Amino acid sequence: MSLGSGKSGGTGHNLNSQIDLAGGVLILVNAYRDQLEHTLDRPDDVATGAMCRPTYSPALMDEDSLPGALSGPPPRPISAATFNQAHGVTAHSELVWRLAEQAYGEDYPAEVRPWGMTTFWVLGRCVSGLRVGPGHLLVDLACGRGGPGLWLARATGTSLIGVDWSIVGVEAASARASHFVPADRARFIVGDLAASGLPDASADAVLCLDSIFFATDRIAALREVHRLLRPAGRYVFTAPEVRTPTQPFHVPDWTPLLEAAGLELESKEAVPRQAEQLGRMYLLWLEHIDAIRAEVGDASADRLEAEARRVGPLLKSREPLLIVARRPG
Ligand SMILES: C[S@@+](CC[C@H](N)C(=O)[O-])C[C@H]1O[C@@H](n2cnc3c(N)ncnc32)[C@H](O)[C@@H]1O
Repeated sequence: MSLGSGKSGGTGHNLNSQIDLAGGVLILVNAYRDQLEHTLDRPDDVATGAMCRPTYSPALMDEDSLPGALSGPPPRPISAATFNQAHGVTAHSELVWRLAEQAYGEDYPAEVRPWGMTTFWVLGRCVSGLRVGPGHLLVDLACGRGGPGLWLARATGTSLIGVDWSIVGVEAASARASHFVPADRARFIVGDLAASGLPDASADAVLCLDSIFFATDRIAALREVHRLLRPAGRYVFTAPEVRTPTQPFHVPDWTPLLEAAGLELESKEAVPRQAEQLGRMYLLWLEHIDAIRAEVGDASADRLEAEARRVGPLLKSREPLLIVARRPG
């Protein structure tokens, strides 16, 4: 479904000017509000002017491709088929990647092409949080198209197994592997966040970027991390906390969930500049939606547009975190 498609183009120049002049989150949020107020066909779908009110409606659930979404899973889970489309059609848009590069600036690891919010800052923190090296095995859960795990395997010298429920993501990751590491150092398999199919205690470290919140049962997904890790092995993930939850799927604090799964929290750090960078990317999507549509077709373009309109205004109410935990030794 499309919210007000065709009306966004006229405000693009103004939005761009606001980003160039100020670049601050407040300006971005105001720009969203202006854009939303002027373009919504169905005001009920989005909280115009009320930036903290979540905007899920049952009609939107199956439309959420959410590359880079900050929200928890909706009551009806997003399907692997939705991600197949994201990793397939959408990922073939050179324009989408160019806009990501523009939005994230020098912090953007272009070679990685993350399907999420991974920056050089995040990659650096992953290196220090995972503490792995040659001879170790890193497991990347919900690896998507594999970029962040492959970059980290190359940087640290580990072997890598990536797991994702999207066959299209797994195939894309497999095809990219040799650009980063020798063939025998990386493989990718289809599996679930809560059921990877890998043996007990086989991983020296586990990674999960911008994905754990898609698990319908978060504790089951964290228990899978615990099962996979060797004793004292470390787990690094990125996910938001919603300080004032208004939906059952919002997570105000990941710590009790980690503890329920038998994991110990080591650190939580705010990911810097995320709201500003992601907000800028969403505005660029909206500004260039017609050109994106020409590259990826209506279904994918509608999903990107719906995400930008729905998630963008909520960015201020979520705290993006990089969290390090460990299995007790
Ligand atoms: C936003 S992408 C992040 C991909 C990758 N971690 C990255 O940063 O580039 C979310 C990924 O989670 C995967 N995913 C969502 N729910 C899943 C589940 N229950 N089991 C396995 N993978 C899942 C999707 O297929 C998608 O590849």
